Amino acid sequence: MKPVELLKQRAAFRAAEQVRSGMVVGLGSGSTAKFAVERIGQLLAAGELADIVGIPSSVQTEKLALDVGIPLTTLDHHPRIDITIDGADEVDPNLNLIKGGGGALLREKVLAQTSMRNIIVVDEGKLSPQLGFHWALPVEVVAFARQSEENYLKSLGASVAIRKDRAGSPFVTDQNNLILDANFGPIADPLLLSSRLDARAGIMAHGLFIGLANEVIVAGTGGVRHLKSKNRTNAPLFP
Ligand code: A5P
Repeated sequence: MKPVELLKQRAAFRAAEQVRSGMVVGLGSGSTAKFAVERIGQLLAAGELADIVGIPSSVQTEKLALDVGIPLTTLDHHPRIDITIDGADEVDPNLNLIKGGGGALLREKVLAQTSMRNIIVVDEGKLSPQLGFHWALPVEVVAFARQSEENYLKSLGASVAIRKDRAGSPFVTDQNNLILDANFGPIADPLLLSSRLDARAGIMAHGLFIGLANEVIVAGTGGVRHLKSKNRTNAPLFP
């Protein structure tokens, strides 16, 4: 395994230790979250965990979870998630995130906002002084509004590229939408940008996850760090 893969695995395994029997677990997407899904499957198979149900954030994760033996449920049946483990593309010092490199951002954000604990797992290469430093911002748009949203993102200062799949065709999300990768460079005010994107019809989701992570587990060459948010601002609204 490549060194960076080992780091991803370490972070994900550490997060999987937080799962307890009987929990409803949000299952993230991407190459880091994948290790957590596999680990939860191993713990179930070994009898170290029982009565887990998972809610996958993508079709890909759904397949993996079924392969490793995690029973699945839906948000309709279990609207309150105990813990979600997911990856991220970029993490800033306030534990705000850019997500969506794999295109699963909409469902991932729904899981994050519904989870009592939202644990993000990353290798240390994902840490960033300012969101947008390393990554363009994924923006999921309805196909009907593609050009209009591209123009809107440009008016906000981004250079924009439509995401393509391996065959060179536009990438289509699990919700049958398109992804515009909007490169803003370092984002001075992520909260303001997030609210502008949230307010725009035609944009179904964007990859700014502000105040949604409770914890970030970072694996680096010097060891694993468990960072905790002092003020998760977007906590789920449960009685
Ligand atoms: C999926 O849409 C994403 O949000 C991923 O969680 C994110 O891109 C991190 O992926 P990796 O763990 O593969 O880097």
